[in-house]
Amino acid sequence: MLTGGGDCPGLNAVIRAVVRKGVDAYGDELIGFRDGWRGPLEDVHEELTIESTRGILPRGGTILGSSRTNIFKRPDGVDLVRQTFERHRLDGLIAIGGEDTLGAASRLSAEGLNVIGVPKTIDNDLGATDVTFGFDTALHVATEAIDRLHTTAESHHRNLVVEVMGRSAGWIALHSGLAGGADVILIPEMPFDIDEVCRLINRRHARGRYFAIVVVAEGATPKEGTMTVATGQVDEFGHPRLGGIGQQLEREIEARTGFETRTTVLGHIQRGGTPTAFDRVLATRLGLAAIDAAHDGQWGMMTALHATEIKLVALADAVAEVRRVPVEEYERYGVLFG
Ligand code: F6P
Repeated sequence: MLTGGGDCPGLNAVIRAVVRKGVDAYGDELIGFRDGWRGPLEDVHEELTIESTRGILPRGGTILGSSRTNIFKRPDGVDLVRQTFERHRLDGLIAIGGEDTLGAASRLSAEGLNVIGVPKTIDNDLGATDVTFGFDTALHVATEAIDRLHTTAESHHRNLVVEVMGRSAGWIALHSGLAGGADVILIPEMPFDIDEVCRLINRRHARGRYFAIVVVAEGATPKEGTMTVATGQVDEFGHPRLGGIGQQLEREIEARTGFETRTTVLGHIQRGGTPTAFDRVLATRLGLAAIDAAHDGQWGMMTALHATEIKLVALADAVAEVRRVPVEEYERYGVLFG
C-alpha cells in the first residue's frame, strides 16, 4: 500500500481497514511503502500489521508519509517499481491518492503491474466517484473558520477575504462559502470581475451592513485584464503552487471601495487533523472494498462512491478529467451574494 500526493484526513482509516480485512479475513501479509511513489522507487517500506495500525482511525495525515514524487519523471521509474514488486513477490499494490497518484497508478497498470486505486483528496475533484474522503473534513474546518471570521469582521466593520484550497476546483470554496453565508464566493471555474465584487460589497454597505466575507478559492483568477496576478513555482506533476490571490484581492477591494479589508489564508489547516465521522466511514468502506477487489483480481480498478454504494470503476476513467464545479450550479447561488 502507499499514500501519495497531498495528505488528507481519512488516509489512516483506509490503511487500517485494508490491514484489518487483509490479515483477518484473507490471511495476507502487507507492507506499506513510505512517502508515496518514493517508497516503491527506492524500496523504502515497513510491515503493516493489526498491531502497527492500532489507534490510527481518528488520526489525520498518513502513518506511511506522503510525497509528490512522480515515477514517470525518471527514465528508470517503471523498471525500479517493477523490481520492487518482484523483490517482495507482491500480488499487487493499493495506491491511495488523488489525480496525480492515481494517474501514475493507471499508467503502471497499463504497463502490466497489478494496481488498485483508492481516491482521496480534500479538493473533491476526482471524476468517477461522487465524493472523495477528506473533502467533508476540509469543509468543516473552512466553515468553522468563516463563522469565526464573521463575528470579528462584523465587530470591526471590515471586509474579510478567506482564501481556501481546492487547486483548480471550487468545491471547498463554494460549499464552505454557502455554509458560512459568505457575501462573495470566487471559484476557479468562473473568472471573476473585480468591479462586480466591489459592487456587491458597496451594495451591502449601502444597505447598512458594514462588513463582508469574501471566500476565494486559491485557484480563482480575475477576468483577463481586470487585475494583475502573480505566477509561481510548479511541482513534479507540473501543478503551480497556488496561494496569494487572497492578498491581491484584499489590496484591490480596499483600494476600490475604501473599506478596510484583511485576509486569512486557511492553507494546510484544511488538510490537517482528525477526519469527520463521514470521512472515517467513507475511507473505511473504500479500504474494505479495495482489499476485496485485490482478492478478486480486479487490477486496474478504483473503488468509488456512487450514491450510497461502493463500486469499482476503471482507474483510467477516474483520472480522465478533473471534476470541477459546473458554472450553472455556481450561478444558481448568485442570488445569495452581496
Ligand atoms: O490537492 C490538495 C491540496 O491541498 C490542494 O488543495 C493544494 O493546492 C495543494 O494540495 C497544496 O499542496 P502542497 O501541500 O504540496 O503545497
